[in-house]
Amino acid sequence: QQLAVGIDIGGTNTVFGIVDRRGNILCDGKMSTKAHEEVTTYLSELHGHLSKLIDQVGGPANIKGIGVGAPNGNYYSGNIEYAPNLRWKGIIPLASMLQGLFNIPTHLTNDANAAAVGEMTYGAARGMKDFIMITLGTGVGSGIVANGQLIYGHDGFAGELGHVIVIPGGRLHPGTGAKGSLESYASATGVTNTAIEFLHNRPETESLLRNYPENEISSKVIFEAAQKGDPLAREVYAYTGKVLGEALANFVMFSSPEAIILFGGLTKAGDLIMKPVREHMEKNLLPIFQNKVKLLFSELKESDAAILGASALAWEMKD
Ligand code: BGC
Ligand code: NA
Repeated sequence: QQLAVGIDIGGTNTVFGIVDRRGNILCDGKMSTKAHEEVTTYLSELHGHLSKLIDQVGGPANIKGIGVGAPNGNYYSGNIEYAPNLRWKGIIPLASMLQGLFNIPTHLTNDANAAAVGEMTYGAARGMKDFIMITLGTGVGSGIVANGQLIYGHDGFAGELGHVIVIPGGRLHPGTGAKGSLESYASATGVTNTAIEFLHNRPETESLLRNYPENEISSKVIFEAAQKGDPLAREVYAYTGKVLGEALANFVMFSSPEAIILFGGLTKAGDLIMKPVREHMEKNLLPIFQNKVKLLFSELKESDAAILGASALAWEMKD
């Protein structure tokens, strides 16, 4: 069997595709994750979409396996466990549920770990043995590669860098109860909350964002305003970049990577975010680490890193 299915479950959307051994995505699709309160209705919609794609490529006999990347996914168990950004609570045995639906071998891993594998195999981390992948989306995730291998850790959850506390006593994360975790600042919601705070606390700063009702402020609206030169939107990026840069300095000192690869919505802001990220990362590094670590963007478009990385789980499966 020369094909594999890759699925990337995000807090907002799920993307999926059928991939060949050279990393070509032959066909793909997208659906809402968030719309499904129950994992069962979610899986039946996903089953419908994927069955059609699988038929398009000649049926299940051509599929070696299904690989899934999911928030709070565990490679060892195939479960999603207590995901703060999903509506499905508790432990969800997603890999075995999917395998039951399709009757195709299925493996699951953490979504950011999958993205790291995608980048290592097909993208910006090709040829690297030590790097950190950071995904900035509905949540903030990471995949830590050391000596050419993902770090899984004893329980399989290593690399939850989005939940590292970066501002002690800081903003409350409604999904985890933590105060001041990176995710509360560098996720899409984090950036939005920073903008809302700034609109209240910096009444003297002009902003197009003042024309919006608070519930319409989103990472997209902030990005568009920043592109037009909006002072407050730019301050939001400067602040987010500072928080992220300081966090990255800590991560660099932890594992001494060759590069950090950033992926996700925030990276669209380009230099507006990257300049402060680099500045504050360097400023907080021990001199032995300074001016050495490459800060790169994902080379794969949109969700491809995650689809490719997830599909790679299938190639590891025994025949
Ligand atoms: C989860 C991670 C995930 C990240 C991105 C975080 O909230 O804890 O497992 O990788 O979001 O989806
Ligand atoms: Na991870």
